[in-house]
Amino acid sequence: MIKFDLLPSLDAVSSVPSVRVIGVFAPTPSKDKKQKADASFPLSSELKVVDKALGGFLAETIEDESFQGTAGQTLLLATNGVAGAKRVLLVGLGQQKTFTLETLRRACGTLAVAVSRVAGTDVVAELPLGALPTEVTPEQVGEAITVGAMGATYKFLKYKQEDLKKFEKRRLKSLTVVVDKSQHTAMKRGFKRGTTLMEAVFMTRDTVNEPASVMTPDGVKKIAESVAKLPNVSLKVMGRPELKKLGAGAHLAVAQGSDQAAYLLHLTYKPKKATKKIVLVGKGITFDSGGLSLKPADYMMDMKDDLTGSATVIATLKAIAELKLPVEVHALAAMAENMPSGKAMRPGDVVTAMNGKTIEILNTDAEGRLVLADALSYASAKLTPDAIFDVATLTGAAMHALGHIVAPFMGTDDSLNDRVREASDVSGELLLELPLVPEYAEEMKGQVSDLRNIGTTPYAGTVKAAHFLHAFVGEGIPWVHFDIAGPAFTSKRTRSYNAEGGTGFLVRTLVELVESFS
Ligand code: BES
Ligand code: MN
Ligand code: ZN
Repeated sequence: MIKFDLLPSLDAVSSVPSVRVIGVFAPTPSKDKKQKADASFPLSSELKVVDKALGGFLAETIEDESFQGTAGQTLLLATNGVAGAKRVLLVGLGQQKTFTLETLRRACGTLAVAVSRVAGTDVVAELPLGALPTEVTPEQVGEAITVGAMGATYKFLKYKQEDLKKFEKRRLKSLTVVVDKSQHTAMKRGFKRGTTLMEAVFMTRDTVNEPASVMTPDGVKKIAESVAKLPNVSLKVMGRPELKKLGAGAHLAVAQGSDQAAYLLHLTYKPKKATKKIVLVGKGITFDSGGLSLKPADYMMDMKDDLTGSATVIATLKAIAELKLPVEVHALAAMAENMPSGKAMRPGDVVTAMNGKTIEILNTDAEGRLVLADALSYASAKLTPDAIFDVATLTGAAMHALGHIVAPFMGTDDSLNDRVREASDVSGELLLELPLVPEYAEEMKGQVSDLRNIGTTPYAGTVKAAHFLHAFVGEGIPWVHFDIAGPAFTSKRTRSYNAEGGTGFLVRTLVELVESFS
């Protein structure tokens, strides 16, 4: 964890920090043709003071390293204690007119990574927060700082103990931001909220990063049990016998090839003052081998990540409960492992989902929609919510279309889709709506059954999967489906404050989204 703090001015620091960070804008390009391209970098009055203390060495290094203040650029100087710290780190912020909360998150991520290289464990930062757009609140500023700095200092090193020790020793442990006293109370609230959000993001990352041999349906159940200890939170666990009683034939079909348990985990957060009820549904395939429609080795490699939807909704509910949001929230985690065996579901099998619809399973690798079919039916029939959001690493097609930094979403209610866009604007997690054009729904109709679990052509797989899911959402219930196959898991960092492996993508957006119902 990082300790976040505030100081009214640099003079108030009680001990010499290991690094003094200064956020620096890129100069605005001048329309004046006479200004030469190789003109020296204009030092702000603040940087001039540092430069003077260093006898001109800062200006010289800026020149030598061609530091231009572009976003993400850094310049680190060892100062031997001159200029108020052992080191000074300049962090580029790009041009002032493009400075947003997202720039701030990234800059804090960048600084956290840069200081950990030089054992910069305690940092004082001067950031031009006054240049943020006027509608940004100090609470949001505090939150963005924690999201950036904490997000960047996560590494999954449980199975690399030597590296873990080294990393723990050198990583950022305290970040003190210099800002006017009038902002302190609100910014501290932001620190607290940001920390809560990031703890939920870390929980998601940890759950996803654990190997599938550890993070089995029982492993996820334990996590849900830990969340259920929070005030106003309870957990209902439905195993194979209960699923059978409920008629969850699609979910059970997916689970039947595996020796692992199968569960529908139902977490409820019910605060006293709630007027709205939201259900979050997550795909929880702890390993997706493809089943008898076995995946090729290269495609199977990352399939421990196929429980991300369940990890996301459980962690989101935890954050919402900790933030004490006045909205009733249910998280349904549809847990199973998709394995081939003598007991496994076969292509051509017909199953009946909880809402009575029959499905012909033509490809056992399209398993996520099967477990979600039952969870969505359950959400619709048992909970009568104001909105349902489902989260799933559902289709490779989503990743092909939008890569690792944008996730597609599809929904049935324009105003709910607008809410999703607003929440994404605040969180900085990128989402794009795909059209649920009715023509594509035709392909999901079965010949011997109501539905088939794959389309008849290999195109628009993400939209067709969403159409399939829609058949299990109760009539008239506003619903949005998020296909996070791309952003859920990445082999390398996509932003300074993201992580390799599990990213925790969508947790912050979902919290924002649920909060919009309070
Ligand atoms: N879990 C996969 C989707 C996936 C692929 C997630 C890559 C993350 C990265 C899902 O169960 C799956 O196998 N989908 C198939 C569906 C197809 C058989 C219709 C796919 O996308 O190929
Ligand atoms: Mn699959
Ligand atoms: Zn899957």
